[in-house]
Amino acid sequence: MPDAAPETFYLTTPIYYVNDAPHIGHAYTTVAADVVTRWHRQRQEPVWFLTGTDEHGQKVMRTAEANDVTPQEWADRLVESSWKPVLHTLDALNDDFIRTTQPRHTERVQAFIQDLYTKGEIYAGSYEGPYCVGCEEYKLPGDLIDGTGEYEGQKLCPIHSKPVEMLSEQNYFFKMSAYQDRLLALYEAHPEFVQPASARNEVLAFVKGGLQDLSISRNTFDWGIPIPWDTTHVLYVWFDALLNYATAVGLDSDDPEQQAKFAATWPASVHLVGKDILRFHAVIWPAMLMAAGLPLPKTVFAHGWLLVGGEKMSKSKLTGIAPSQIIDHFGSDAFRYYFMRAIAFGQDGSFSWEDLSARYNAELANGFGNLASRVAAMVGKYYGGVLPQAGPAGPAEQALEQVAAQAVEAAEKAIDALAIHEAINSVWTLVDATNLYLTEQEPWKVAKLDEERDGTAPDATWIQEGRLATVLVTAAEALRSLAVLLHPITPKAAQALWESLGAEEPLGALSVQPVDGAARFGVLPAGTTVTKGASLFPRLEDPVVEGA
Ligand code: ME8
Ligand code: MG
Repeated sequence: MPDAAPETFYLTTPIYYVNDAPHIGHAYTTVAADVVTRWHRQRQEPVWFLTGTDEHGQKVMRTAEANDVTPQEWADRLVESSWKPVLHTLDALNDDFIRTTQPRHTERVQAFIQDLYTKGEIYAGSYEGPYCVGCEEYKLPGDLIDGTGEYEGQKLCPIHSKPVEMLSEQNYFFKMSAYQDRLLALYEAHPEFVQPASARNEVLAFVKGGLQDLSISRNTFDWGIPIPWDTTHVLYVWFDALLNYATAVGLDSDDPEQQAKFAATWPASVHLVGKDILRFHAVIWPAMLMAAGLPLPKTVFAHGWLLVGGEKMSKSKLTGIAPSQIIDHFGSDAFRYYFMRAIAFGQDGSFSWEDLSARYNAELANGFGNLASRVAAMVGKYYGGVLPQAGPAGPAEQALEQVAAQAVEAAEKAIDALAIHEAINSVWTLVDATNLYLTEQEPWKVAKLDEERDGTAPDATWIQEGRLATVLVTAAEALRSLAVLLHPITPKAAQALWESLGAEEPLGALSVQPVDGAARFGVLPAGTTVTKGASLFPRLEDPVVEGA
């Protein structure tokens, strides 16, 4: 028997509503997804990274109406003008982009719900209750908060701070209440299914409190996927949207290629979501899959919110900042680095221009960028840009290599736990240790001593066995490690560093350097051409940029 093909690491973002353009809250999830999938790619694993757009439902329909276009025209416009371009702006390497209006999705969704209907998992009934169009969700009375000011006397959605609408409709229902015990057994047997622990606790408490059957159709508007056995109804937008994760990789396809894709990719490794949509992913979605007899995803990870003035940044509250407002000034690498490092992944965090500027200058410009240019400049000055042969490694060199090994080990663990901020902290121990190494070894003084002893300017012929060569080669090796480890986080700077080190010629492309080999020194051969390119992160003189 041949070995089974290695498992694909399949990670998804939410599919975003196209009622408006992306803000940095959406970008946050997409960047996190991109960093984690790029890290797995750097491990040389097979990876599939899916993102896309959620285009049906009342929220999108009303926006289109307000703009005097059809919902399909509105969705097409937003996808082409905003949602696809922002991936490029963020430097995200998604493998696919699903839109819920694509036939590959709508047809497979219809097959899926027809199957549940045939199995007796869906029945007709009626429902009356408060509905939040922002959430596209029926709310329980206990979920609501009392309005004040202009909303005095009304009940509000706690996420959108807007009044809910009372709906009373004939609907089809999914027998979700029947899955309470199986869901609790799932959370029990697989504590990793809902992460982090705070999210798991919330879901446990919610499901222990009892589950109602779920209304899964609407018949007062038509912007949705028709229910196959009763086309006077459209499918509830969340039932439609959640299925994207499976339809995009070939669920229920009769194309053999798509079937093979599904076999190789499903179940998903990680659904990355914001905590606002945790319950849909950790309760409804697994119940749907159980009903269909499909394998369950391994992990739903709910990260925290970007806050503005203590509240969730949002389109509906007009507190959204466009990613390009930051990226035009700081670049995509700095954006990615900042949000992934400054906020503990899983917790809420506030964005501030001051904090971003301070970290940019201290950590990226002075800490990392300056390190890279100093080393390249010294190899240029003392060795004409040709990496010399290092002499024997002493305790300081061994200690630095040890830091690299520990950084890789800790970062690997952190990525597996989706503690992205900790992974970056671990990588940064090597940036800091390399800076300290140069400060302590003072290669510029070694060069001066060499020169005084010899009476002539140092040249590559006699210095080869010398200390100066050892120090600079060791620093270059640390930079080579950093290029590999930072490739998932700051891909452009890592690539520029790889080129500056001349590493491609002897070692191949940066993308094929495995993470587990990154910490081993003594890899760059003597004779490699090192060039001092443009600064990786030029110092920014006007540190505080006001938001528009
Ligand atoms: O909920 N902080 O789409 P959506 C952090 N279509 N993350 C944020 C954020 C913030 N302030 N604001 C948004 C939907 N996000 C559905 C999803 S999935 C089958 C369907 C991110 O456009 C975060 O990932 O409202 C959040 O869960 C998502 O955008 C919601 O995007
Ligand atoms: Mg939302």
